[in-house]
Amino acid sequence: MMAHDSLEPATMSTILILNGPNLNLLGQREPSTYGSGSLADLEALCVETARSLNLTAECHQSNHEGVLLDHIHAAGARHSEGSLFGIVLNAGAFSHTSIALHDAIKGISPTPVVEVHISNVHARESFRHHSWISSVAAGIIIGLGFDGYRLAIHSLAEKAKKARIS
Ligand code: DQA
Repeated sequence: MMAHDSLEPATMSTILILNGPNLNLLGQREPSTYGSGSLADLEALCVETARSLNLTAECHQSNHEGVLLDHIHAAGARHSEGSLFGIVLNAGAFSHTSIALHDAIKGISPTPVVEVHISNVHARESFRHHSWISSVAAGIIIGLGFDGYRLAIHSLAEKAKKARIS
């Protein structure tokens, strides 16, 4: 039996929105690439989207790889105990460099992690074309701006619903 099968539906209704390095600069940073919305705007969109789906979004941003790892580990532990369903992760530039993040996501399996990038990384420099997250992610949403987070939350909501009825 999967760890979450025996849990109360309400307890699995939290999701983590985790943003990595430089995403605190959204709104000021390269607006032609990332848009004019701030991190606060993005987090408000995530909280509201989650609320509309009867989910609670907890939002964190860090510029530090180790802090991101700690959030992922904590989310995995909460998934096992039934108090968190999944993660929307934009690991920023660490997506292209961090085997540690790859290992962490693998380490918290089966916690679903949806990888999001605001910009279309495949239309940019070649060093952005490879992500260490993609092969261990439940899904990937790239190049749709802030809307990618909204879609990722909808996808987690669907998965959570299916997990409850399976
Ligand atoms: C990003 C793309 C990365 O290549 C970049 O380093 C970022 C943001 C995105 O959301 O488009 O910081 O993850």
